[in-house]
This record gives sequence, structure tokens and C-alpha cells, in this order.
Amino acid sequence: MPTRTSDVLVVGGGIIGLVTAWRAAQRGFATAVVDPEPGGGAAQVAAGMLAAVTELHYGEQTLLALNLASAQRYPDFVAELTDLTGLGLGHRRCGTLAVALDADDRAHLRELHALQHRSGLDSEWLSGRECRRLEPMLAPGVRGGLRVDGDHQIDPRRLTRALVAACERAGVAFHRTWAERLTVGQDRATGVVTREGDVLGADQVVLAGGSLSGRLAGVPDDVLPPVRPVKGQVLRLTVPERYAPFLSRTVRAVVRGSHVYLVPRENGELVVGATSEELGWDTTVTAGGVYELLRDAHELVPGITELPLTETRAGLRPGSPDNAPLLGPTDLPGLLLATGHYRNGVLLTPVTGDALAHALSTGELPDEARPFTPKRFARAERTALVEQPA
Ligand code: GLY
Repeated sequence: MPTRTSDVLVVGGGIIGLVTAWRAAQRGFATAVVDPEPGGGAAQVAAGMLAAVTELHYGEQTLLALNLASAQRYPDFVAELTDLTGLGLGHRRCGTLAVALDADDRAHLRELHALQHRSGLDSEWLSGRECRRLEPMLAPGVRGGLRVDGDHQIDPRRLTRALVAACERAGVAFHRTWAERLTVGQDRATGVVTREGDVLGADQVVLAGGSLSGRLAGVPDDVLPPVRPVKGQVLRLTVPERYAPFLSRTVRAVVRGSHVYLVPRENGELVVGATSEELGWDTTVTAGGVYELLRDAHELVPGITELPLTETRAGLRPGSPDNAPLLGPTDLPGLLLATGHYRNGVLLTPVTGDALAHALSTGELPDEARPFTPKRFARAERTALVEQPA
């Protein structure tokens, strides 16, 4: 049974695992990632909205502070990755328009506007006519909206490619296989055993497996992360030259209680998302999911039916009990978490990389990440929440 060792072993090569590995390697740690397909995961499906303000929810003020800290780091983060790898990331500082289609949506948006205002965030209320002046493809029935110039977007697939390249340049080793079991010796995490039975030893292990993070065998119950999969179906369309610019910014709404958003990329792709379904590990694209997304998107922007539909796909968000991530050291020495990012994985990528690098170096989380310690969940709650369908 061959044993390979590193200072830091990251279990999971999605964007969160990759940014953690990259930042760890930059700090001088000999770092490895174990994942059968580095660069896969939820980021391949995600729309990539950097929507700290438009995705604000009641009761999530603490998460807002982390979201804003990460949003603020994005420009430098993108510049650093692009300089290093020569790869563009599709970062568009295009802003977002959240619109209302009926009186209920309008009341909901007014509430959101008041909450944003109380939270010291910039957003501007627009009439329906002003919304359509900004985005002429909007339906005539739009009743008003919120203009948020600070909520941008990035292309998560390009971000992932750049993170893989940055990791390779920083000397991160990739083990392209499944981690089957955490190994624990003398009351600390010591590495993992792979599907092939290889032992990958490490001084510190970071569990960054997205929605799968609660399923690694060998992790003691009292530190197992309480994450669950929350399915999101997403469509990709293409805007032909003759329709460009179809939309100039992200447009979103809550239609009959469901979020729908349209994210126009600089390369002519239009991403439409997303369903939110608690169906365990199911990633089937369903006729119902596609229908609902197209129906709601069509109510917002009727011209969408003219566009070629190029891709339908479903992914799994790693949901946590309070919708916030679990970051940093656990009660098992040598085991850290970087998971549970739920709807904000792309947005939280820069701040997660920084927080984990700090935690790996010092044993402590930096101030902005302290509220997100995994230790905030009581054991009973964790055990109840990790029970997943087989
Ligand atoms: N943040 C968008 C989503 O999770 O659908």
C-alpha cells in the first residue's frame, strides 16, 4: 500500500478545494488535492452571480458581512489569477436589476430594498418604465425594480480552469481518484485512503467536498459536516449576434415564490437559473424544471423564446443548516472544513481561500471568518442533519 504524504491534503477539487489548495501552496505548504475530476462539481453548473446585495435574506446579516468581504476582494483576485495563468475569467462588472412582475413581487422587492437600506447597501428603486429603459427586452408588465450596480458576475467554468492552472503552477499535486475514508491516528486526522487503497498522508486535511462533504467514511460523527444537497437546474442559451445585446446586466425576479435569474455573459451565453429542490442526490434534468425556468424567464423577458437552447444541467449546492459555510478547524485536530457554501460558493471563493490559508498557517480563523467555525453546530443538530437518503 503506497503512502504519499503532504503538508496539506484537500479532499475535493471543486472551486472551494482548488482555491484552498492554491492559497495553501502559496504559503509554502506541500499541498495535494484528491478528486477524480478536479475542476468538476457545482461550479460547472453555477451561473456565477456575485450577488451579495440582491441575494440578501432576513436573518443572514452575519453572512452578508462575509459575502461583502469576498465581493470586495474579487477584482484583485481576478487580476492575480489572470496575471498568473493568462486566462480570462469572464468577470463582468455589469450590475444587477431585480424586477417585480406583480403586486406581490413588488411588495417583496420593497421589503428587500428597505432591508438593504438598513444594512447600508447601495440599491436604487426604479419604476417599471425606468427598468425597461435600462433593459428594453423586459416585459411591458414589469412593475418596478431594484438597480444594484455593485452585484456583478464571473464565469465559474473559466474560474475553475484558472484555479486548476494556478494550482499546477504552484506545485499542487493532483490525485485523480476518490477519497474513500479519512484516517485517524492518536486522535488526529492523518490523511485518507483512496478507492484503490492508496494511503495519502498529511499533517492537515481539508474536507472541501461540496454536497458530498458529509459522506466521507471515517470522519467521527461529532465533526461530520451537516451539509445536504440542494438541487439546482440551470439552462444555457445563446444570444445570436443579431439580438445582441439582449440584456446588458443580470436580470432576476421571484416569480410565484421561485427565484429566476438571467445572466448574460460577454461571450454571448445567457444562463438561466435556477430551481431549488430538496431531492437528495438526484441530478436529473426534468421537463418540469426546464418548463418552470423557461416559463418564468419568458414572463420576464418574452424574447427569450427566440434564442437557441444549448444546454440543460443540474448541480447540487452544499446546503447547511443556517445557509452559511463551515470554515476552518474542527474538534478533530488536523481536520479542517471548507464546505456548506450553499448559494454563495462562487462569491465566497476568494475569502474562503484566504481564511483557510490563514487557518492552516495559524490554527485560527481570521476575524471575518470566525462566525463560520464548524463548531457552531451542536452535535445533536449535526447528527440529525447529516442523515441523507442512500
Ligand atoms: N446563487 C444562485 C443559486 O444558488 O441559484
